[in-house]
Amino acid sequence: MPFNGRFTPPGDKSISHRLILMSLIAGGEAFIEGLSDCEDCKSSLAIYRKLGGRAETRTGEGELGVRGLAIRGLGGRWEAPGSPGSPESIELDCGNSGTTIRLLMGILSARPGKYLLDGDTQLRRRPMERVAEPLRLMGAKIETLNGRPPVTIWGGPLTGIDYRMNTASAQLKSAILLAGLQAAGQTSVTEPHATRDHTERLINYFGGQIAVQELTATVAPVGLTLPKRFTTPADPSAAAFFLVAAAMIPGSRVTAQNLLLSRTRSGFLRVLDRMGAKVSLTMVADTPEPTGDVTVSHDGPLRATEITEEEIPSLIDEIPILSLAATQAQGRTVFRQVDELRVKETDRLMGIRHQLGALGARANADGDDLIIDGPTSFILPESLDSGSDHRLAMTLAIALKAAGADLPILGRESIAISYPTFDADLNSLWRDDSGQA
Ligand code: S3P
Repeated sequence: MPFNGRFTPPGDKSISHRLILMSLIAGGEAFIEGLSDCEDCKSSLAIYRKLGGRAETRTGEGELGVRGLAIRGLGGRWEAPGSPGSPESIELDCGNSGTTIRLLMGILSARPGKYLLDGDTQLRRRPMERVAEPLRLMGAKIETLNGRPPVTIWGGPLTGIDYRMNTASAQLKSAILLAGLQAAGQTSVTEPHATRDHTERLINYFGGQIAVQELTATVAPVGLTLPKRFTTPADPSAAAFFLVAAAMIPGSRVTAQNLLLSRTRSGFLRVLDRMGAKVSLTMVADTPEPTGDVTVSHDGPLRATEITEEEIPSLIDEIPILSLAATQAQGRTVFRQVDELRVKETDRLMGIRHQLGALGARANADGDDLIIDGPTSFILPESLDSGSDHRLAMTLAIALKAAGADLPILGRESIAISYPTFDADLNSLWRDDSGQA
């Protein structure tokens, strides 16, 4: 059966994290609609509250006011752990969230006090030195445990740097920029390839001083103020599961509404277009992020494509679901230089190869490239194992629908990490509208 219908995916997870975490250092008060209610963003919100932040769910103005989060900017002022009468240090639980821990490293390096940042077993395996190193060059005092969490920070004064990143990572770039906002002098960061630019856009939207030239962003220590109202655009990385499913399964046509469509996040739509799906966009807003409605329809068999190293950051979280589409495409699809997948919530490169392999696909690694030869028809193992990787679990759930099978997926509950309403959307969109006008 195909996928059909319109839906509004949850608020973008990356932007939700930034709105909450930047409220630690910005002033003012905001009413934010459409924040993501995922487990990862709850980790950020709990930390904001633990540091003294006040945020509550409210209904907005007017009789039909929608619900949103009223959040107060702390302007960097909270009781420093270690100051007289307060505990010596404060423990902050980042749960499963790489964005929470890495952005916080940048924010807290400049704040007085001792902070211990930790997380779950998956987070404890992820590399943190890539962030600690440039922050140390700015004067930060940070320790990691063999390069991984727990991370200890003794916050203090920082000085701006010019930094050239070796890894294309928006979390790393954002940590440096958020530290730079609080450092003496200017801070510049240059990335090897363009990664998501939400931090830059929000700094600018919150009244900060930031200049972006090609791959270099330069920030000055100017205070930020939260906007009075903010509507979070819908998450393309959540929408992708159903938009890619629509491209893949004959008879499908899915529209995602109010979707974040910045160039640094919409790489998967350009790839679907190259693979032969029908993709149409209607833009509805441009500031601070381009937003619009997107319709993807199946338009005949998919064709294989090559995804270049430069394109990878613009679709990094969509590689699992795009890999599934590649198993149904005619020819060899190559994802170039995807070594970063090895250090996501799990080793996603291995998870994709093993789990798509269990479904009968030919998915292999050649060095750091992921290679998928299609098309293949699905075979069904007894069960599938997501390794508690939320994006792999959702990919496998779509694979099973495409195969017309119902099997257990081990670790399926991890889906709530990024997309708690996934099953509701899955059930409402998995339908055949072909008989309807
Ligand atoms: C994110 C950046 C990406 C992405 C992650 C969210 C962000 O990670 O995979 O899901 O919000 O900045 P990297 O910066 O490690 O590439």
